[in-house]
Amino acid sequence: MSSAPLIALALSVLLGAVPFAPASETAPEPPALSAEEQAALTDLAQTPAAWFEEQSFADAIGRLPHYDEVRLSRYLAYRTKGSWTLEQVLRIVNTDNDLPRYTAAADAELADGNLILVNKYSRLASDYVPDDLVTVEPAYSNGGKLKSEVNDAFCDLVEALWAETGLHLVNISPYRSYSLQSSLYARYSARDGAAAADRYSAHAGYSEHQTGLALDVSVPGGTLNGFKKSKQFEWMRDNAHRFGFILRYGEGMEYITGYKFEPWHYRYVGTEAAAFIYENGLTFEEYYAYYVRK
Ligand code: DAL
Ligand code: ZN
Repeated sequence: MSSAPLIALALSVLLGAVPFAPASETAPEPPALSAEEQAALTDLAQTPAAWFEEQSFADAIGRLPHYDEVRLSRYLAYRTKGSWTLEQVLRIVNTDNDLPRYTAAADAELADGNLILVNKYSRLASDYVPDDLVTVEPAYSNGGKLKSEVNDAFCDLVEALWAETGLHLVNISPYRSYSLQSSLYARYSARDGAAAADRYSAHAGYSEHQTGLALDVSVPGGTLNGFKKSKQFEWMRDNAHRFGFILRYGEGMEYITGYKFEPWHYRYVGTEAAAFIYENGLTFEEYYAYYVRK
């Protein structure tokens, strides 16, 4: 027997004693784990799913936070599909990324306000226009609109960046209408092919730029692709949450967000959610699944 199944078995046995209830946000908090139990759980989460037989896979994934027993057959379908860890399988299925993109989409929940989810599974109607768009402060933008609250937060952010670092930042693509997104996607897919374009550009109705809550930034006169190497990006990565923004499409998270790393794209969610997402290293899809979805 190779060592992999043995390690998986040992972890399962070790964790057999841990009283980890299936996650339900209304259920009482499980007892706090000891440092050793937490370390074992972290190791278990990083174990390749394919190392487990079906039953031990079910037992093991059932011990992870946010396990949802209703989704067990969907987790099981991912056990040997690709080389995912247990934690990745959980993240994929809990955010519905095991379902077909676009065709399995539902209407976005407008009542979620600043926490609305718009992605390849949650779409906006072609006639949806946010109701309180304002022109972005011209000193901080090359034109366009944002929701009023988001514009205020962005102005605060740019002023804090200046005060703390002496650096400047501009908003180069804020609200985009359905028809603008439609022409952008058509142009990119004609240039690069649909499969490549789908990794960086949303279909019309599936872009959170249509919410008025998202924006792309750049150093003045810079390019999107150059932003990753800028001091402004380092500051944004570590501070955007203070103003209610999250880095929406994180590095290595395409399997959850549906998009390649976009260091320039920020999404307003309000300061409370942004701090929680930042501190817990979540994607917005996970935050939505665990704390917003009814
Ligand atoms: N680039 C982002 C994903 C958009 O097109 O909305
Ligand atoms: Zn963007």
